[in-house]
Amino acid sequence: MKVHGAVRVPGDKSISHRALILAALGTGESVIRGILDSEDVASTARVLRAMGVGIPEFANVVRVVGVGVRGLKPPRVALDCGNSGTTTRLVAGLVAAHPFAARFEGDASLSRRPMKRIAEPLTYMGARFDFEGGDGLPMTVRGVDLRSIDWDTGGSSAQVKSAILLAGVSAGVEVRVTERAPSRDHTERMLRAMGVDVENDGNQVCLRPVRGLEAVEFKVPADPSSAAMFVALAAMADEGELVLDDVCLNPTRTGFVDAVTRMGGDISREDVKEVSGEEMGSLRIRPAPLHSISIGEAEIPALIDELPLLACLAAGSGVELEVTGAAELRVKESDRIATVVANLRRIGAQAEELPDGLRVFGGKKALAGTVNPHGDHRMARAFGILGAVRGNRVEVQEPDTVAVSYPRFWDDLKKAVA
Ligand code: S3P
Repeated sequence: MKVHGAVRVPGDKSISHRALILAALGTGESVIRGILDSEDVASTARVLRAMGVGIPEFANVVRVVGVGVRGLKPPRVALDCGNSGTTTRLVAGLVAAHPFAARFEGDASLSRRPMKRIAEPLTYMGARFDFEGGDGLPMTVRGVDLRSIDWDTGGSSAQVKSAILLAGVSAGVEVRVTERAPSRDHTERMLRAMGVDVENDGNQVCLRPVRGLEAVEFKVPADPSSAAMFVALAAMADEGELVLDDVCLNPTRTGFVDAVTRMGGDISREDVKEVSGEEMGSLRIRPAPLHSISIGEAEIPALIDELPLLACLAAGSGVELEVTGAAELRVKESDRIATVVANLRRIGAQAEELPDGLRVFGGKKALAGTVNPHGDHRMARAFGILGAVRGNRVEVQEPDTVAVSYPRFWDDLKKAVA
């Protein structure tokens, strides 16, 4: 298989959610360029609209007039968060600081995901959470005048950290969040661009009381999690090279590129610059023989969403991979440890589950069979990449699940492969 050309993957999902949310809380009109037009980001737009924010149809330029940090309106309908954990957790932080109640709903996958991790700190701040069984959706959040908080999450989750930060922004109180390892820091960078005093110091972030958010222009870089798919594709190709443009190279997101480089991958970074407070640049990838690696807990946050892909890359390259310290994978859009291992076996690779990770055993052979992504967009794409490698015959059921984060994925994949 030969790869060729340049791919500009769509805008970053994490940044797109945050751009809508922060623009909604701003004073005046913010401009968002290059927003990701996908189902997950549409969920954030839908719930913000339900609380009185005027968000137009997505286009290359989206203009949002903010309602102020505490200007959301009580929703008349339940907030339908679709498949999106980021929508649920970040917006719950906002509702916690507003003087009304809102009911959060989601699809079957989202309804299984744990919400206690945000309910605990936000309840400590004064909000009320009512669950209808377990700690998943549906849940009702009742907001109040929140108090300040100094919270140790005990883990590493940008959604939890951002829920607390956004609650602090809306409530105008100081918050401090400590994590085991720093999670992605887009919220902090974007708040800083809007004039907020927020400091990251190692594993800690501290937000000073906010009076208002200045409207800004956000340029959304290409999503490194989407770009990672093509990094893996080019690494497994027989010939050619692939260029990925405008990729967000924030160090909290480049763990996959670092891991593939450590495996022997040939990846160079070009034209690196800072845009809207985020590093971005092009990645040039050429095929190269890879070797085995292990990934431990410290590396997980920067490649958490790419671990299923890394497992597919190892299987497709015939090398060994061991991942540990990644129990979080079990509570993503699917149980990603179980789903990736079961599917690798279905197509003839050898792999096993660990309680907090997985092992892929080496040995190069053609992979063939049908994969069930269990409604998980990242799983569908990772196996789609394996299917494009010469000699493999991999069919992905539910190919449309990619619409959650990258609707035109299959078209871009076809174009990248000569
Ligand atoms: C995200 C944070 C991560 C990541 C998810 C997006 C975000 O989740 O897996 O895809 O935008 O904040 P956690 O915060 O649960 O680790």
